[in-house]
Amino acid sequence: MKDFKTVRDIDIKGKKVLVRVDFNVPLNGETVTDDTRIRAALPTINYLLENGAAVILMSHLGRPKGKKDPKYSLRPVALRLHELLGKPVEMAPDCIGEEVQKMAAALQPGQVLLLENVRFYPQETDNDPQFAKDLASLAEIYVNDAFGAAHRAHASTTGVAQYLPAVAGFLMEKELRELGQLLDNPQSPFVVLLGGAKVSDKIGVMQNLIGKADYLLVGGGMAFPFLKVQGLEIGKSLCDGDLSVPQGILEKAKGTKTQIVLPVDVVVAEELVEDAPHQVVDVEAIPADKMGLDIGPKTVEKFGQIIASAKTIFWNGPMGVFEKKPFDQGTRAVAQAVADSQARSVVGGGDSVAALTQAGLAAKITHVSTGGGASLEFIEGRQLPGVEALASK
Ligand code: 3PG
Repeated sequence: MKDFKTVRDIDIKGKKVLVRVDFNVPLNGETVTDDTRIRAALPTINYLLENGAAVILMSHLGRPKGKKDPKYSLRPVALRLHELLGKPVEMAPDCIGEEVQKMAAALQPGQVLLLENVRFYPQETDNDPQFAKDLASLAEIYVNDAFGAAHRAHASTTGVAQYLPAVAGFLMEKELRELGQLLDNPQSPFVVLLGGAKVSDKIGVMQNLIGKADYLLVGGGMAFPFLKVQGLEIGKSLCDGDLSVPQGILEKAKGTKTQIVLPVDVVVAEELVEDAPHQVVDVEAIPADKMGLDIGPKTVEKFGQIIASAKTIFWNGPMGVFEKKPFDQGTRAVAQAVADSQARSVVGGGDSVAALTQAGLAAKITHVSTGGGASLEFIEGRQLPGVEALASK
């Protein structure tokens, strides 16, 4: 991985520092319902403030498709950040333009300004050079602490780095170190637990981990194409895409140390609704008119034993339809198993992290990643544009 500079490597005293953070957090109206990503950026923000910088924060929120939409305003985030920092956070009405220029120019060391959603401009996702230049003109140094957005080559994640000295923040550094350790010499047994709806989202990860992981445990909707290519009937279960993909992955794993482990039983129902009548069946006996919506208890037991034997764990993706009860049980059970294990554990992705947080288990995990797509692309072995844009040591 690239040996990039961090905030420790530059002089920030008296400087205006533009920090890209990933404040893409869930909102309920004006309330931030999960502030994990805001908390995760605090070490960098506090370090900059304590060392005499004026801090200008920028982020995206949601996907407003290049239009100013109050629903995607970062204003609620400014309020939460103010509470967490214990000092005022000025909210800019925009992210570029004359008024923002004035606010940035007037900002003093120790003060914080949050720019409005950069995705209110299509130039952000287009990585437009003039837009990047306008953002860069607000400051003297650029810090990228938005690991969660590092897989995007956008103006605020890569473009700005063309115009300012660009260094990593502490969160970016920590994420890359923790995830990097999974790929460089993970302690064996290395158990990887993958779930979620689509095989297509996880092909890259599976391909990169074959030969590195000892076990690839597969749950969630993505297990069904694997069961199907083994000749099993999967009823109305999810089965996206071309079956040559799971076939190819199973072939690739043959003769390597990696064992791909599939569910042995599943919870099935006729339809995907909350509290739908359901039953547990072995994977050889999935009824034609039913769909699998969660892993069953025998699978939980089997996965649990493998997880308990692990020295290193990576988990991404739910084991069932986590948002609809009772199809959340498998995910909750594996969350408990990962939390109980003594292994070095790294968890990424919305639903897996939500399962841990809701069960109060997040503190038992070695590293809970703030990146969904970014952590997957990293584990796929791909270079992240936001990291590539940083200055080398
Ligand atoms: C995320 O939530 O994974 C990041 O903030 C990136 O968001 P995006 O997928 O809309 O680019």
